[in-house]
Amino acid sequence: MDSYNDFFRFFNKRVIVNLDPRSPEAESYRSIRTNILSSNPTNPPKVLMLTSAHPEEGKSLTSANLAIVMSEIGKKTLLVDCDLRRPNVHSILGIDKSHGLSEVLYGQEEWDKVLKNVGIENLHVITSGAIPRNPSEIIGSDKMKLFLEEVKQVFDIIILDVPCILAVTDSIILSLLADCIFMVVMADKTPREAVLRSMSMLSDVKSNISGIIFNKVNMRRSHYYYYYYYGSRRRKEK
Ligand SMILES: Nc1ncnc2c1ncn2[C@@H]1O[C@H](COP(=O)(O)OP(=O)(O)OP(=O)(O)O)[C@@H](O)[C@H]1O
Ligand SMILES: [Mg+2]
Repeated sequence: MDSYNDFFRFFNKRVIVNLDPRSPEAESYRSIRTNILSSNPTNPPKVLMLTSAHPEEGKSLTSANLAIVMSEIGKKTLLVDCDLRRPNVHSILGIDKSHGLSEVLYGQEEWDKVLKNVGIENLHVITSGAIPRNPSEIIGSDKMKLFLEEVKQVFDIIILDVPCILAVTDSIILSLLADCIFMVVMADKTPREAVLRSMSMLSDVKSNISGIIFNKVNMRRSHYYYYYYYGSRRRKEK
């Protein structure tokens, strides 16, 4: 890569490294980080899972941005694309999908050999790898449990990007391995019933939602926008 700009061109334009660090969007990801880390300061959650009721609510983009803001404060962070049906983390971060989680779960690769570096300090990524024939089975295998046990010894935070709940069972299976589960909800769009149904499916297996992340919020209606605007104006000299 020739320059700094060439490097960042590879990331999706909504990834935090491409945003103004003082923007309301960047600030909102930091606010989610604060909430997560302060939820249990003496024993902060390690394995975070972001899911949603329906597809395309922003799970992958939010997972990637959350992973970046975690790494910004020195947390050794691992982002794992556990969506083995429609993986997307690799395209958001502009990296190659091959050699990832599915190869680890099939026992073809060791997890430390498929870690990808995206040029952000403290952040490593495991992409989906090849799309398997039987995603739910390999996600629910002992190998997946073992993999998470091992990465927990090495990383401070592990973020799992997973498929939506109402379409496939993979999220429900993975919820049993996560310390903290967040539902990404599209503000003003996701039907209330879909969120309630997803929460009930999780509670059926004794998994509880730790929080809801409202995505695609109109920032002009948000208090962050006011402070951004406020902060960008110079105070009048007296
Ligand atoms: N806050 C946001 N503002 C604007 N666009 C967004 C936002 N969050 C997500 N998007 C866009 O919405 C689309 C879906 O996002 P993403 O792939 O993160 O969703 P997903 O829930 O992971 O989808 P899937 O169910 O297919 O895995 C993408 O084009 C993404 O760039
Ligand atoms: Mg996704």
